[in-house]
Amino acid sequence: RGSTGLKLIIAGAPASGKGTQCEIIRERYGVVHLSTGDMLRAAVAAESDVGMKAKQCMEAGELVSDNIIIGVVKERLAQPDCMQKGWLLDGFPRTRAQADALAAAGIKADAFVFLDVPDEDLIARVVGRRTDPETGKIYHMTFSPPESEEIAARLTQRADDTEEKVKVRLEAFHANVGSIASCYTDIMFQVKGDQNKHVVCKQITDHLDVVGKFQCVFVLGG
Ligand code: AP5
Repeated sequence: RGSTGLKLIIAGAPASGKGTQCEIIRERYGVVHLSTGDMLRAAVAAESDVGMKAKQCMEAGELVSDNIIIGVVKERLAQPDCMQKGWLLDGFPRTRAQADALAAAGIKADAFVFLDVPDEDLIARVVGRRTDPETGKIYHMTFSPPESEEIAARLTQRADDTEEKVKVRLEAFHANVGSIASCYTDIMFQVKGDQNKHVVCKQITDHLDVVGKFQCVFVLGG
């Protein structure tokens, strides 16, 4: 096996709770969290080549081109930290071409976690979401409010977190999700993501603990 840690994909609609769950999964399993949204936002802020190409699409709520993002992800997965600790892909693959590119590169995950949340809940989540630029922690002004006034004062809101843009993002999600999920039926774990985040987390980690044990047996057994 290329990597010794768990190799995971988490998928779901915009604001289904991927980033929220990833904070916990990363800590518990020691994997490297790779959010393509965060990577692209960092590239835009740094005004790199990738960032310049991605900026317009991201601001409109559209997907950036497969060519751009596939190269970025493959390069990142080949870094030593991912090879040693395992990885958690968040927001990738988002199209069939991206899933095919992973398979063609021989990159195989141990589990595909899918967060299922009805569309009507997602808009409220998007418009209330805030991020702490100092810690990267995700909040929601109603469902997961900041712990102090000091934190509340520094929270930021994403430019694509408007009702109008989330509708565009949801369209892209629905257009692609079926063809991606069909690539991972053998490792799919579907969770109802409209439950309390701690309940969602418990269901995911119960499953991943089992996947991790199997992986351990497999590695030890060769
Ligand atoms: P990306 O950053 O990946 O955005 P996304 O998929 O739309 O996902 P979000 O980050 O919006 O939501 P999330 O599921 O992480 O939810 P969160 O935990 O924050 O991508 C942004 C853009 O980058 C794309 O539009 C595209 O342009 C580009 N891009 C990225 N990857 C790409 C790719 N592979 N190909 C092409 N383009 C790509 O939670 C949301 C809110 O809900 C928070 O406020 C949270 O506190 C709250 N919440 C979470 N869980 C719960 C719960 N159980 N109950 C109540 N509230 C909850």
